[in-house]
Amino acid sequence: MSGQNIAQSLGGKSILLVVGGGVAAYKSLDLVRRLRERGARVRVVMTKAAKEFVTPLAFTSLSNEKVHDDLFSATDEQAMGHIQLSRDADLIVVAPATAHLLARAAQGLCDDLAATLLLATDKRALYAPAMNLRMWLAPATRRNVALLKQDGALFVGPEDGAMACGEYGPGRMSEPLEIVAAIEAALKGETRRPLQGAAARGPLSGRHVVVTSGPTHEAIDPVRYIANRSSGKQGHAVAAAAAAAGGRVTLVSGPVTLADPAGCDVVRVESACEMFAAVERAMPADVFIGAAAVADWRVEAAADKIKKEGAGAPAFALVENPDILAAVSHAADRPRVVVGFAAETRDVIAHAKEKLIRKGCDLIVANDVSEGSGVFGGDANEAHFVSPAGVESWPRMSKEAVAAQLVARLADILNKSEAGE
Ligand code: CTP
Repeated sequence: MSGQNIAQSLGGKSILLVVGGGVAAYKSLDLVRRLRERGARVRVVMTKAAKEFVTPLAFTSLSNEKVHDDLFSATDEQAMGHIQLSRDADLIVVAPATAHLLARAAQGLCDDLAATLLLATDKRALYAPAMNLRMWLAPATRRNVALLKQDGALFVGPEDGAMACGEYGPGRMSEPLEIVAAIEAALKGETRRPLQGAAARGPLSGRHVVVTSGPTHEAIDPVRYIANRSSGKQGHAVAAAAAAAGGRVTLVSGPVTLADPAGCDVVRVESACEMFAAVERAMPADVFIGAAAVADWRVEAAADKIKKEGAGAPAFALVENPDILAAVSHAADRPRVVVGFAAETRDVIAHAKEKLIRKGCDLIVANDVSEGSGVFGGDANEAHFVSPAGVESWPRMSKEAVAAQLVARLADILNKSEAGE
């Protein structure tokens, strides 16, 4: 690939490019090249009509990825659900956005993969329209564009120019470098689709909530690690509940086998040190919820696999990991509310009270994870809500219900602290 001197302004970014059926589709080939030169990963979805103008093979060659075009592909669905395609992207770019594709997106139709992804995503879409000027100026297109903008969509172009059909006026797709500039600008802003309806008015709307979840893996050598039994179910449920309540949620997750909760920005980490760094990067926040089972110690990991040499087992020197919850609680930019979890096997409440003070947090959600409680890896939890005001023991309920209760409490605390109570 050329362009070695080009700044990697899109390094680490993932773009989902939806190609509609217009003659401007040939320009989208160049767009893929420009995006990749800048370090972006580009996945391409084509409509049936797009394939009349450019071949999927051309996009495969330039993107170095399989091109997706089939809503009902059994193999694709097995490898990765189509919804995951748009979830994994940082931004969706529709170029060329034809009048028909704009109309389908505005109406929420999902009669092919491209339209389904546009409906199913929680990410913003940037449209680069391309069509005949009369189609662009037609009242129906004006209405569709207005609807999409109202829903948070972004637009680049179209430009005035000579059309393929011989007419002159607005309707020409922006040049690839202009689309790149619009993508860079879009990625600097909010990339999630603005929430509508209940979530937009939800009790945590306008709040940034950072949640840690799952276990951490501490490497011993390149093939072995120390782990714990946390499934991440409770932490993920808390993140999902905070997002459903309208919060902007950053979920920092250790290795889990759970799907990403809807509407959350998910940062995946392995070790406690990585989790700490990701939490620091995610700050500032209004609320921090430490639901992860962070390993207390790490091993100075060996660069190579440790071999059985001689008779003796190797001895590991353990190093204490940073306490993420305590660090967040004592940080200069401390979130307004800091919540810890305490998984205990005995004296649950006494330990939780002690942790509340030691870690400087506002609340501890404590539970019994002793063998037989079924909490670790299970779907239910029996939680105690420990704050300086006292202890409240909740009956056994699902982890989702614990999450919803906790989120309702947090919204209440935030509102009261704002009202000066
Ligand atoms: N925690 C953290 N960073 C650590 C250890 C724990 O952020 N290095 C957080 C957990 O996410 C949880 C809370 O601290 O919210 C309590 O975790 P727990 O493992 O119960 O506490 P420890 O400090 O490890 O105490 P102990 O091992 O003595 O029970």
